[in-house]
Amino acid sequence: MARQKVIEGAAAGGGGKQPPSDRPLGHFNPDDERFDDELRPQKLSEVVGQKKVVDRLKIVLDATLKRKEPLSHILFDGPPGLGKTTLAMTLAKEMGTECQITSGPALQAPKDLLSYLTNASYGSVLFIDEIHRLPPAVEEFIYPVMEDFRVDIVLGEGMNARTINMKLKPFTVIGATTRSGMLTAPLRDRFVHREHLDFYDETELTEIVRRNARKLRTEIDEDAALLVANRSRGTPRKANNLLRWTRDFATVREPSGIITKPITERALEMLEVDAVGLESQDRRYLSTLVTVFSGGPAGLSAIGHTMNVPPDTLEDEVEPFLLRLGFIQRTPRGRTITAAGLSHLGLKPPPATTEQGELF
Ligand SMILES: Nc1ncnc2c1ncn2[C@@H]1O[C@H](COP(=O)(O)OP(=O)(O)OP(=O)(O)O)[C@@H](O)[C@H]1O
Ligand SMILES: [Mg+2]
Repeated sequence: MARQKVIEGAAAGGGGKQPPSDRPLGHFNPDDERFDDELRPQKLSEVVGQKKVVDRLKIVLDATLKRKEPLSHILFDGPPGLGKTTLAMTLAKEMGTECQITSGPALQAPKDLLSYLTNASYGSVLFIDEIHRLPPAVEEFIYPVMEDFRVDIVLGEGMNARTINMKLKPFTVIGATTRSGMLTAPLRDRFVHREHLDFYDETELTEIVRRNARKLRTEIDEDAALLVANRSRGTPRKANNLLRWTRDFATVREPSGIITKPITERALEMLEVDAVGLESQDRRYLSTLVTVFSGGPAGLSAIGHTMNVPPDTLEDEVEPFLLRLGFIQRTPRGRTITAAGLSHLGLKPPPATTEQGELF
């Protein structure tokens, strides 16, 4: 092993990750991932926060390096932008191995995975993003790959069909998913280590903003860094995007180019990011719940159709933070807005609730 080269998207093309089809193109997307690589930590020691996860990974990494073995398969799950890809890349770098990148939707049939498998050198990393979107046929094909480093290829059909077994060099699969609940138990169980990433706190995000401002060679006040952190919904990718936006704003509107607190306030106001970090889509979700569904309970797909936003996008990108803020509840009958959610919209909760979890 020990080739310090990262092969990105060998067969999936470009950055490996397919752009999610539900994201609008040609429109300013603050979550644009094309900037991620520039600010991504390169070593485990540069990863801010997620202390328990990083400590455990460090043990696994050090033990593996000591034994000169390939790393065991690892699964990262958590909402978008919290560092799943970052951790996978840093692990490959720390191991000094190659890393091939692909994603669940890019692997339509077992043959799509074959080129990755035959390319995988001893101890290298195969990173599969959005692994919950692997088609069932590929998933079944990957079981013996992960367990025994073996592929079973069926040649011919019917009476003449025969299976050829091909031995592979031991390597590591690192999977990432925003929906661990959608993974089948057999696939989940083949990952020896499973780590859940959670939202970051204010101190961690402020540190990320400070470090990344330095990487972007931009000066930012301490107060401004804190403000950006507080509006980043606990998510480093948001923090990076808001930092880039405030930097652009300061370049144009502030002669010194320094990002100060007043400049940040104006920049965030223009971007329509409110005091708790909600963006217009988040507020539209809340107001749809109130105006169209009388506060809920409402099904996710009904909300999605009303807003003209794919339900998956709402579930991955909008709901996790609203749930964390306690602005909505997920009940068996659907989503409901809470008193805190109503008061964020400047509305008063109704005096009495008819049923637990129901406000209207
Ligand atoms: N722990 C961290 N320390 C510093 N920066 C981080 C950390 N986690 C994430 N980042 C920053 O946030 C960006 C987005 O993270 P990353 O691409 O790893 O998220 P992700 O979990 O893979 O998201 P997605 O589910 O959308 O693929 C990175 O480029 C990096 O700059
Ligand atoms: Mg990722």
